[in-house]
Amino acid sequence: MKWIEVNSYDEMSNVAAHIFTEQLQAKPASILGLATGGSPVGMYKELVKRQQAGDISFKEVTTFNLDEYVGLEQNSPASYWTFMHENLFNHVDINEEKIHLPNGKATDLEAECVAYDAQIAEAGGIDLQLLGIGVNGHIGFNEPGTSFDSLTNIVELTESTRTENAIYFDNPEAVPTHAITMGIQSIMNARAIVLIAFGEKKLEAIEKLKGGEVTEAFPASRLLNHPNVTIIYGGTK
Ligand code: PGA
Repeated sequence: MKWIEVNSYDEMSNVAAHIFTEQLQAKPASILGLATGGSPVGMYKELVKRQQAGDISFKEVTTFNLDEYVGLEQNSPASYWTFMHENLFNHVDINEEKIHLPNGKATDLEAECVAYDAQIAEAGGIDLQLLGIGVNGHIGFNEPGTSFDSLTNIVELTESTRTENAIYFDNPEAVPTHAITMGIQSIMNARAIVLIAFGEKKLEAIEKLKGGEVTEAFPASRLLNHPNVTIIYGGTK
């Protein structure tokens, strides 16, 4: 595991964007695993700048997002589909057909989960996966206690996660109770992983990860067994 300590959110975003830039320059048809939340917004802004400057292109890129809420319309203001379009996809030269997020409105959600892992495999597997980390160590929506063997599945959100995510909704009750998330094994299948975390609240999770204990009680700890993970982190107490 490679640890890169940074002094600011912007520095974290730039370092992460640099890794994605190198990936796209080395392999224009990369398969990228993407994430939502406050952590990647700056990195996406930087990638938009680099694409518009002609340094990189998304024309041949295929993307798979980590997760999506169950029950929201695709274009609902709080859906992850909307988040990704507003923060990245609408501003770059990506082919809409190569964008994948789990369908939280699927009539058969179980089948949707199986199909999602199959689509990733058919595309050739994820070259570079972006992750944030929850204060409780969650990755994607894989909360503490999730089996390390999990594939894409439907999860019930914990109250702490629903509270953290309430800022994206008109009122806290509007936060969906369930989501579809890539599982921990689905994430581990990526050839390389970048995890970004900045701020006081995240430091506890980062310190726990640094502690080195691999346990299902702390989902991100599974990454300690992955051969190619970069953690870009910082913040003050
Ligand atoms: P954040 O969320 O980027 O909004 O902090 C990350 C996460 O909880 O996985």
